[in-house]
Amino acid sequence: MNLEPYLKAAREIARDAGQLILAQSSTMHTMEFKEAFNPVTVIDRQSETLITQALMKRFPDHGILAEEGTSIHQEKDFLWIIDPLDGTTNFAHNLPQFSVSIGLLIEGKPSVGVIYGPRFDEEFFAMRGGGAFLNSKPIHVSSVDALERSFWVTGEPYSIRKNIDYHLKLFKGMVNKTLAIRRFGSACLDFSNVACGRFEGYWEAGLKPWDAAAGVLMVEEAGGKVTAYDGSPFDVRNPETMVASNGILHSAMLEVLQP
Ligand code: IPD
Ligand code: CA
Ligand code: CA
Repeated sequence: MNLEPYLKAAREIARDAGQLILAQSSTMHTMEFKEAFNPVTVIDRQSETLITQALMKRFPDHGILAEEGTSIHQEKDFLWIIDPLDGTTNFAHNLPQFSVSIGLLIEGKPSVGVIYGPRFDEEFFAMRGGGAFLNSKPIHVSSVDALERSFWVTGEPYSIRKNIDYHLKLFKGMVNKTLAIRRFGSACLDFSNVACGRFEGYWEAGLKPWDAAAGVLMVEEAGGKVTAYDGSPFDVRNPETMVASNGILHSAMLEVLQP
């Protein structure tokens, strides 16, 4: 199947949404809370409207699932999954780590993904079977093969307080075994930074489909591996636990993440 038209559309729309966000990004923003600790701003919603309207215009027969409430024909074989602003807390505090993420599942498989970080003007994209790219140059996961030399990124779900000891135990295990850990606050950029080899890996529990739909493809197409903490296949529609790595360190990482 020729995926190019879908990639082209996703790239154009992600850039338009990125420009909308960027134009309002050098200031602090008021957050509302959809549920405890889960924030949203007016700009998240504006970005979602821009993206979903543009997709519906180009692909009226496709389904859409987006974080701020758009849910159209989720049973369709072509399903767009959108995070209109990933890293809302950063954005609202005028930190530059935020992004727009647009992924396309075809018959349930991540097939096209675009993640655009407007403050860095970094555009990551991938097509199933076609490789992954950063600003149009091919990218690849890192070749680091020693856990004690590996650099990782993580995040915690908004629900972390319900199970804090579990998450902190895993974090402690990782701090003990690796070179260093970072927590940046944009899951989509975290996946992207594994794909281009800046990090050896990324782990997080409690992600949502829109955090992962484009990012998983980015890592896989860059030569990496993505599974659940127990090593079972990662399911974008039901992403309970997630480890993305350069592949070489995957099994070593899974051992550390066993509770
Ligand atoms: C969040 C960010 C954060 C991650 C959370 C996500 P949002 O997304 O990606 O890094 O740790 O799990 O929910 O709410 O800013 O789109
Ligand atoms: Ca998100
Ligand atoms: Ca979001």
